[in-house]
Amino acid sequence: MAISKSNTSLELYRNRSKFKWVVLVVSIVISLVSIYYTNILVGQLRAREEKLISLYANTLEHFANQESDTDMNFIFEEIIVSNKSIPVIVTDEIGKPLDSRNIPKADRAETKKERDKVLREELEIMEAQHEPLLVTLRSGDGSITGYQFIYYRNSDLLAQLKYYPVVQLLIVGIFGMIAFLIFNYSKAAEQNRVWVGMAKETAHQLGTPISSLMAWVEYLKSDEKMADQEIIVELEKDVERLNMITSRFSNIGSEPLLESTNIFEVVNETITYLKKRLSTKVKFSISCFPGKELEANINISLFEWVIENLCKNAVDAMGGEGEINIKILKANEGHVVIDISDTGKGIPKSMIQKIFQPGYSTKKRGWGLGLTLVKRIIEIYHKGKIYVKQSDINKGTTFRISLKS
Ligand SMILES: Nc1ncnc2c1ncn2[C@@H]1O[C@H](COP(=O)(O)OP(=O)(O)OP(=O)(O)O)[C@@H](O)[C@H]1O
Ligand SMILES: [Mg+2]
Repeated sequence: MAISKSNTSLELYRNRSKFKWVVLVVSIVISLVSIYYTNILVGQLRAREEKLISLYANTLEHFANQESDTDMNFIFEEIIVSNKSIPVIVTDEIGKPLDSRNIPKADRAETKKERDKVLREELEIMEAQHEPLLVTLRSGDGSITGYQFIYYRNSDLLAQLKYYPVVQLLIVGIFGMIAFLIFNYSKAAEQNRVWVGMAKETAHQLGTPISSLMAWVEYLKSDEKMADQEIIVELEKDVERLNMITSRFSNIGSEPLLESTNIFEVVNETITYLKKRLSTKVKFSISCFPGKELEANINISLFEWVIENLCKNAVDAMGGEGEINIKILKANEGHVVIDISDTGKGIPKSMIQKIFQPGYSTKKRGWGLGLTLVKRIIEIYHKGKIYVKQSDINKGTTFRISLKS
């Protein structure tokens, strides 16, 4: 089954935004799975550390209450000395530090006072994290002689692992953003090259037949029998039009020259030209405020192209019958605005963002390039702005162009 062109371009845009959602959803799922898995790991590691500390306390208790037991010394070595990751402080019953392990700051302290200060600070952190473990000290006959407490906190590995998903998300996010920017930049650069290349080539290709046509017109004009015939006048007009098209393409393909120009005159001339080619059911009106003398820096042939494209779209939106109103206004800070309003079918709010994208068209025979070209001419070549100022369904649309005067 044949698919109409407008359907394929619409599909392209729908798929593109669908693709963005798929990427977003997949990234969120990956992030959630990663956070969930890391949480499980953190839980397991915490349980292991708690078990190790409890073993540590039992071992300490055992050895504190035993006469020297050389056979068991290796267990002491294995459990107490091999703990190289969990910070631990052993205190007496009133909380005075007796011994510490894996607290590099305390080991580095030069004076006892300094060391005590570090240990007191550490004790506060440890107390906030875990209940201390109680070690009961007994004399040889089994009677209780005192108590000790074992304070501990999570190992650095556990602490780092807790922050790992955040760091991971941050890195993935930054990477994604950079990739997105590079992708957009390279896409814009590629589009630029295509526009400039195609425009230059078109202007170049048109050049030869137009020069030849011009020579033919001159030749015919020099013939007395032909000179005053209407056909020569019409031919001259067409050659002029072809020349203008070539000039548009060659301007798009290079850095166009901008000149301070009377906007009303250019718009009026374009409208006069268009009127002859459009249905008489389309009424045009132009108004200027404060007067017709407003000027802006423009490239005439490109600016005419903009007005032509906007008016053609307006005529299409009105189904060939309605009013096109053009207002030229002086705006603040050396700006001139041109509002082009029609009484057409309007643009749905959800589509306003898309109409300037290449390939977006709702017309059977549309290429969706008109507004892309218009935006490019206004924003890149004239450093101005173009946007939809207002659009109401079945009432009409107003496009606003803002230029530097
Ligand atoms: N004045 C308007 N009123 C309503 N819809 C509009 C108007 N101007 C543009 N549009 C919408 O924006 C779409 C894109 O316009 P654009 O000029 O870029 O492409 P096109 O007119 O469809 O094709 P072409 O490449 O031939 O210009 C149109 O298909 C139409 O749906
Ligand atoms: Mg168009």
